[in-house]
Amino acid sequence: MSSGTTTITDTNLKTFANDVKSGLEGTPKTLSSKYFYNDKGDKLFQLIMKLPEYYPTRSEYEILSTRKQEMLKLFHGGGDAFQLIEFGAGDGTKTKVLLKHLVEQQVEFIYLPIDISANVLRQLKDSLAIEIPQCEVITMPYEYFDALERINAESKQRKVILFLGSNIGNFTGERAHQFLQSLAHRMNPNDLLMLGMDLMKDPKTILAAYNDSQGITREFNLNLLDRINEELGGNFNRQNFTHYPTYNPITGETKSYIVSTRKQQVHITALDQTYELNAWEAIQTELSQKYDLPTIDKLAEGAGLHIKSMLFDCKHWFVDVVLEKK
Ligand code: AVJ
Repeated sequence: MSSGTTTITDTNLKTFANDVKSGLEGTPKTLSSKYFYNDKGDKLFQLIMKLPEYYPTRSEYEILSTRKQEMLKLFHGGGDAFQLIEFGAGDGTKTKVLLKHLVEQQVEFIYLPIDISANVLRQLKDSLAIEIPQCEVITMPYEYFDALERINAESKQRKVILFLGSNIGNFTGERAHQFLQSLAHRMNPNDLLMLGMDLMKDPKTILAAYNDSQGITREFNLNLLDRINEELGGNFNRQNFTHYPTYNPITGETKSYIVSTRKQQVHITALDQTYELNAWEAIQTELSQKYDLPTIDKLAEGAGLHIKSMLFDCKHWFVDVVLEKK
């Protein structure tokens, strides 16, 4: 999940501007977490993944390390070559464990990481050339579904799609449903999808993961204001805002907010707009959904997918769900 913006195109900037505008004009105010990931945000997220409180990366790393042979068997299917497609590949630290194993076991596959950041993909490709030179890689700097259409148009080979890291948790239930349904629609009967999902657990553990003691997650959240200032000519003063995450143990919704600590006005030049913020008015910036097993069942079922296997870490904090088309 990465979209570093060393080269901001006009269309990207326009979309960013439009999204910020509709977010700040809505009730409640919102800003999309997809804009966390500029160069600074990418770096902060790298730090988050190493935080003692941020367990999801370690939990999923454990699953990939301990269950890679099972994954090999599932993915390898009838033994034919396959395409291993990854959505939002990022730096690929977790995936490399699996890639390495597949290469060592001489499995015939090609790795197709998809990310809208060409920059991130270049780095991934370079690091793979050094660390796993035998791994055949074709990077796909497109939106997920555009990339899938291209892949489907070019090859009839079986597809195994990875969507790890609980990135799906950034979608509301309805959008997750739509996303999986569209994905199922583009899958063939023998294709697989492996979906990383963060599970409900002690609410204190979850909350701490989004409120780390070093304040890195706070930086990550408030970086959104800096990005608006830099790219859209805003004048947000981050001193007047505070980072506030919440976890709802009934719904599993983990939400992060940027709260205005006073009544203030913010001007955004690119939008030619001034926004009023009341004292303690909150802007919602991120949803990181935590799931229970019945919800995962329903989500799969509703999208026309069948659960083939569920791979948990030893604490049952995280699950990699392997799905196929029904
Ligand atoms: C990359 C979207 C899975 O929601 O846990 C980490 C991003 N936000 N800390 C998550 C994130 C705050 C992360 N995802």
